[in-house]
Amino acid sequence: SHIAITDLLKGRVEVGATVTIKGWIRTRRDSKAGISFLAVHDGSCFDPIQAVVPNSLNNYEEVTKLTAGCSVTVVGTIVESQGQGQSFEIQAESVEVVGWVENPDTYPMAAKRHSIEYLREHAHLRPRTNIIGAVTRVRNCLSQAIHRFYHERGYVWISTPIITASDCEGAGEMFRVSTLDMQNLPRTDKGDVDYSEDFFGKEAFLTVSGQLNGETYCSAMSKIYTFGPTFRAENSNTSRHLAEFWMVEPEVAFADLNDIAALAEDMLKYVFKAVLEERRDDMEFFAQRVEKTAISRLEDFVEKDFAQVDYTDAVEILKGCGKKFEFPVEWGVDLQSEHERYLAEEHFNAPVVIKNYPKDIKAFYMRQNEDGKTVAAMDVVAPGIGEIIGGSQREERLDVLDARLEEMGLDKEDYSWYRDLRKYGTVPHSGFGLGFERLVAYVTGMGNVRDVIAFPRTKGSATY
Ligand code: 4AD
Ligand code: MG
Repeated sequence: SHIAITDLLKGRVEVGATVTIKGWIRTRRDSKAGISFLAVHDGSCFDPIQAVVPNSLNNYEEVTKLTAGCSVTVVGTIVESQGQGQSFEIQAESVEVVGWVENPDTYPMAAKRHSIEYLREHAHLRPRTNIIGAVTRVRNCLSQAIHRFYHERGYVWISTPIITASDCEGAGEMFRVSTLDMQNLPRTDKGDVDYSEDFFGKEAFLTVSGQLNGETYCSAMSKIYTFGPTFRAENSNTSRHLAEFWMVEPEVAFADLNDIAALAEDMLKYVFKAVLEERRDDMEFFAQRVEKTAISRLEDFVEKDFAQVDYTDAVEILKGCGKKFEFPVEWGVDLQSEHERYLAEEHFNAPVVIKNYPKDIKAFYMRQNEDGKTVAAMDVVAPGIGEIIGGSQREERLDVLDARLEEMGLDKEDYSWYRDLRKYGTVPHSGFGLGFERLVAYVTGMGNVRDVIAFPRTKGSATY
């Protein structure tokens, strides 16, 4: 069997041992002395390994025709590298060409710098580049660290449904799931579409959040989290919005807003530490080539306490700061990304938890505060990215919840299962949602969520 290149480069294999590696050519260089140098990568780490191929090999001719993207099996001896850079290389004893690149001149990932937009148009080949390879490993590191964080603290991972009948956020941005014939929709007597004939016997959608389902399990298992895909038919064509993105949603029984804000801070620091420790190679690349502060700002983040500010005070800060915003601020408006960034980057110069928002701009499930005007909501806003987490304490009082449903014109019948949680052993509980792609975009400095998910789904684009 063969060995991952990371194991060789990390010195986990003894010098002198004979090994087999399998991977793809990144570059080839031939010396006049009759030696060919192959840089072979297999995705296991940032650096390729160098295979030194002597012309004594009987297929040396063939080796000198290898181009970027060809797949190979190399058998050889591990030796300490003479050149600078790598610590180990392979002295090849055989090179087998597994797959040729049929026309190197038109190979889309030929070894040169490609623009990030170009790579986006070749999403099936872009993981072969060093930049997307690095993103992919950092993304994996972050998701493993998230699972580890919750596992170590006794949280139970719940897989909430992707198809649902409820609009958690009430923003009307759901994708419909239907098997009805669009050319020939069944109609009721009134002329409306008759969804009783649809697959589920009623309207169904892709979920925008696993939260409501998560609340049911937290009302039994105490501490749960979800980590899965969510969908929003949002019309925002920005670097922070996807139509399909992954969310991490912890939900905790007997926890209030401050508990959940502390959980968010602990989790972010934990996963940042993991990346700094486990993906140093990739992070060094990002710091060199993508975002100078990629490493230092994570180190800062891990050190600093988050700032905390009430929405009402944040509005005062923004009104008094003398800065001209595109969207003017006054009490009652939703904070825009320019406001969030001012608070995190200029005023506090740290990640900020903004708490207790006006109830009119927030979802039905958030717990009302004593003042009757605000709800126990919180957003975590980070320098350089803006909102990364949104959460709240949930309304656990049935009478208050019912009044809120009515106020918002929502049908109590549709929420009967959700209301049951308040009827049968209700408890205060809180949770939040972390936008996973925003997290990865921030950590890598990539700046656009389209470049940190394998196959981005955005308005007007669902190739592959
Ligand atoms: O603030 P949001 O809408 O909160 C909820 O969905 C709650 N139900 C979560 C909860 O309390 N369990 O979304 C949570 C996070 C945002 O802070 C943002 O990071 C991310 O999800 N997000 C998106 N990420 C990428 N593309 C989009 N279209 C996003 N919409 C939200
Ligand atoms: Mg939000």
